[in-house]
Amino acid sequence: MNKKSISPIKVLILDDEIDFTNEISDYLQNSGFVPFSANTTQEGYAILSKNEIDLLILDVRLPGANGLDILKNVKSLYPGIEIIMVSAHGDMDTVIQSVRLGAFDYLRKPLRYIDIQIAIERTQKYLHMQRKLEQIEEKYSLITNEMESRIGRHCIGKSAKIIEIYELAKKAAQYSDTNVLITGESGTGKEVFAKLIHYMSKKKNNFFGAINCSAICDSLMESEFFGHKKGAFTGAFSDKKGLFEICDEGTLFLDEIAEMPFNLQAKLLRAIEEKEITRVGDTKPIHPKFRLISATNCDLQKMVDEKKFRLDLLHRLNTLHIHIPPLRERPEDIAPLLLDFTEEFSEKINKPIEYIADEVFEVLEKYSFPGNIRELRNLTERAIILSEGKSLEVSDFPLPAIYSSTRKKDYTEINLKNNEVELIRKALEDCDFNQTIASEVLGISRYSLIRKMQKYNIDIVKKDVSKLA
Ligand SMILES: Nc1ncnc2c1ncn2[C@@H]1O[C@H](COP(=O)(O)OP(=O)(O)OP(=O)(O)O)[C@@H](O)[C@H]1O
Ligand SMILES: [Mg+2]
Repeated sequence: MNKKSISPIKVLILDDEIDFTNEISDYLQNSGFVPFSANTTQEGYAILSKNEIDLLILDVRLPGANGLDILKNVKSLYPGIEIIMVSAHGDMDTVIQSVRLGAFDYLRKPLRYIDIQIAIERTQKYLHMQRKLEQIEEKYSLITNEMESRIGRHCIGKSAKIIEIYELAKKAAQYSDTNVLITGESGTGKEVFAKLIHYMSKKKNNFFGAINCSAICDSLMESEFFGHKKGAFTGAFSDKKGLFEICDEGTLFLDEIAEMPFNLQAKLLRAIEEKEITRVGDTKPIHPKFRLISATNCDLQKMVDEKKFRLDLLHRLNTLHIHIPPLRERPEDIAPLLLDFTEEFSEKINKPIEYIADEVFEVLEKYSFPGNIRELRNLTERAIILSEGKSLEVSDFPLPAIYSSTRKKDYTEINLKNNEVELIRKALEDCDFNQTIASEVLGISRYSLIRKMQKYNIDIVKKDVSKLA
């Protein structure tokens, strides 16, 4: 807990009248404050330098000094101190000036205790609020620090490919207005990198809003993005900010961008190009500043060719393109990921693992991981749950048989398609390209031979021409 939140308020009274400072001191002491009194400016500064004063009650007129100058000076030396000015009757100009210079309140002489009490209580409330705010900010920065470290810790990998991507992500973070498109198979870490870019950028203290474009229905999508005005449609009971507005000065992460309906793509494009949006049912344009990071496991260029995705939008989204290769193309990352996930889950389920058999690494490095890192993570969690002792054995990782350790063997020799093509070619050549005899030799119908020749693109004429050449 913050020490300041429980300590009583320290008040310094700076006035040349000794009777006055004594009287106020006694009153403050009895009211539960910690009073200090000073009758000269020097004395006042000495107390300020040695004690963490919260509130200064300052006379506007002090011999040889101007209260307003002291006010300015104290505010610049100790910006956290609040000041109540005490003025003589008819000194209104000075009062106005002192408030302009940052005084919290003012009191008029002769003082009434009730006025002092009200002024101090008001200051006290304000100081409490400030302290609460400091605590919240402190807590918030702890949360973000923790999040950042978690994210940093959870971007694991030592392959040249992942290091290259990490460097690219760092670049993207540096240019915090640049739109980034992240592509890669499912489970490769697209969201991990999107967050990494955000939390490494100067926008890190602002909002990171993520939306999965496949998860919201078409009719609500516009309101989700652009917000709406109360009454814009049935169910719009109040004004609502859209994602663009919420992510003002932050990052908007559009996950599964390929799922965005075609008609909304045009609106999104306009919002990105003009940096201007209008809430549904409103006419007033708003200008939020956001960075877009989009992600997909689809081939957007192919979708453009198929007229399912707008080319102009693609160009806007991929100012910087980061492609994360599948895990099977970077097997060097498997070991560090396995170690990290083991540490994470053994801690989480309180089951210490002290040893991982070499065979586990060998088997996993040969596995194809169709579900990429997500699959490795799940496999590790399951293995820890299944394991009997303090070690992980290969039997704790039940992989689908087809992908097991023999996956890297060369199967071309027994590949059905390759052999079929070769046999058909050979039969045709041996039978002088007579399809009826060749089909009999192959033991299939003539019709079936023709279908296979079409399927495998076996062209007799071409073959003859090439033979002649
Ligand atoms: N480099 C990495 N280091 C550690 N963990 C990672 C890494 N990349 C991904 N992961 C973990 O793998 C899982 C999948 O990652 P993420 O959700 O980012 O993948 P994705 O590419 O967005 O998948 P999808 O296309 O299915 O949405 C998460 O649990 C994530 O924490
Ligand atoms: Mg994802």
